[in-house]
Amino acid sequence: MIFSNLVDANLNTDFIGRNLEYYSRLASTNDEAWELISENVPNGSLIIADNQFKGRGRFGKKWISAPSMGLTFSLILYDLKNLHRLPLIIGVSVCEALKGFNFKLKLKWPNDIILNDKKIGGILCESKNINNVKTIVVGIGMNINEKADDFPDNLRKRAISLSMVSNKTFQRERVLAKILNQFEKNLDLLGEKNLELFKKWESFCNHIDKEVTFHNNNVNVVGKFLKISDKGSAIIEVNNKEKTFSSGIVEINNSI
Ligand code: BTN
Repeated sequence: MIFSNLVDANLNTDFIGRNLEYYSRLASTNDEAWELISENVPNGSLIIADNQFKGRGRFGKKWISAPSMGLTFSLILYDLKNLHRLPLIIGVSVCEALKGFNFKLKLKWPNDIILNDKKIGGILCESKNINNVKTIVVGIGMNINEKADDFPDNLRKRAISLSMVSNKTFQRERVLAKILNQFEKNLDLLGEKNLELFKKWESFCNHIDKEVTFHNNNVNVVGKFLKISDKGSAIIEVNNKEKTFSSGIVEINNSI
């Protein structure tokens, strides 16, 4: 069970998370968010499920979560500028927020959240134009109190939770509120001339200057991951030439 009043007590935001829709069991918070948008829920609305049983990930993958262990939530945002920066801002915000709990999270392009070289969280941003308003649903899944046995066999080697590295149990409401507080603060980084975001993102990235294999539409490219562009694309050096990729999956070579 997630206690909405505990989330609220730890929030210091103006609008993010101020309207909270809690579900004990739900297929997907992103799907529910799109439903709620048709009922005109306010900007910054938060949809959270204690047991999300049909979570969606990037590229049609599933996001699997054990009931009452982690965080699965979505935020609804209307009419933001420089949308391509949003996934970067969320990744940075999660890393900054978790610093407050003494965890050094890292990012794998574009926005996998990594701890000890394993995946601890993922972000799925979706957008649609509704009545001429750019509408965004940001879905975040974070592993918090799971033990290794809570993950299915095929994920056990690649997934990790905060509890697994610290042997502690966390109040998920506090972790959530910290992430939301940091996210609202960082929304300033959407600004056109603000380059601080890219510096911050690169400082959390765990594969700058490393050899990676880039997978996109059945094409695999090996090269050195150099940096991200001002649109958030991956810039990879392949055969001494810089190539820019706007979507795909990065696999760090000689890593998991
Ligand atoms: C990924 O790494 O592929 C992204 C995973 C995103 C999962 C979250 S959990 C909350 C929200 N609801 C969903 O159905 N998906 C996102």
